[in-house]
Amino acid sequence: MIEIREVTKIYPMGKKKALDNVSFDIPNGIFGLIGRNGAGKTTLMRIIATVMDQTGGAIYFDGKELKANRDEFRKSLGYLPQSTKLMPRLNIVEFLDYICIMKGVKDKKERKEKIAEAIETVGLVGEEKKKLGNYSGGMLRRAGIAQALIEDPKVLIIDEPTTGLDPEERLYFLNLLSRIAMERTIIFSTHITADIENLCRNICILEQGKVKYTGDKDDFIDGIRGRLWEIEGTAEDEAKLRQEAIVTSVSYVDGNAKVRYVADEAYGDSVEVKPTLEDAYIHALGGVKR
Ligand SMILES: Nc1ncnc2c1ncn2[C@@H]1O[C@H](COP(=O)(O)OP(=O)(O)O)[C@@H](O)[C@H]1O
Ligand SMILES: [Mg+2]
Repeated sequence: MIEIREVTKIYPMGKKKALDNVSFDIPNGIFGLIGRNGAGKTTLMRIIATVMDQTGGAIYFDGKELKANRDEFRKSLGYLPQSTKLMPRLNIVEFLDYICIMKGVKDKKERKEKIAEAIETVGLVGEEKKKLGNYSGGMLRRAGIAQALIEDPKVLIIDEPTTGLDPEERLYFLNLLSRIAMERTIIFSTHITADIENLCRNICILEQGKVKYTGDKDDFIDGIRGRLWEIEGTAEDEAKLRQEAIVTSVSYVDGNAKVRYVADEAYGDSVEVKPTLEDAYIHALGGVKR
């Protein structure tokens, strides 16, 4: 369990607080950190990963303060930054061998076993000869996970891992995370709510450095249940709803505006619809922008 308490971050050249009095708990399992660009996700992950210091507040890992126990904590932590350029001239076996040596695995046979196991887990069997420089985005993310698994971390911090992946790679990656989530804490940041809709039980939504919501994902969605409507209407209907309700999405079908919105009462011949995490998220942010 990780406890984040009143964490604030002000960058030396920063104009505003990148994190402003952020407090929440991260239990075991996969935890979703959601927020738009600039919300503070990377800043918070870097602080939890002990790569950077907070300006104020504290983080506790199983009750122990993080900064004071940094060396101990680092051993049980894996961090995959937002953009990882692994070593392009090495293949996956050479790369993982290097990681093993860095981690102090001296025995050659033991290294070989650990590497084979990691490659198997992330589904890169058959791709051992290819240079990492020739890997696709999805394969590189998997290689990054393989590297982290060598350390067998209790906590895995992954910053926006699905950005730039094609749909197939993305699905594979999300499945991989749910497979390795047993007995681990995985902190997963994203601005795409669909990524974590079926993956996480607990979430935190950051907005401009502040916590907008934290807790059970289903409770969050339930917050707008019974108040979410959908109508296929005209441009005038859309304009009216944008003024009088909180619109969570608009799509245009055959010249009609299909509007989903949160309101206590239905407008016109709207039908009630089942909320998604995206609906609840956009609602919490105050509705869609123009
Ligand atoms: N090195 C830095 N110096 C100054 N400001 C920064 C720096 N890194 C990030 N910021 C600012 O901190 C805020 C949060 O950024 P970041 O943590 O990268 O958000 P996210 O990962 O959610 O997109 C943004 O306003 C960003 O401009
Ligand atoms: Mg970021």
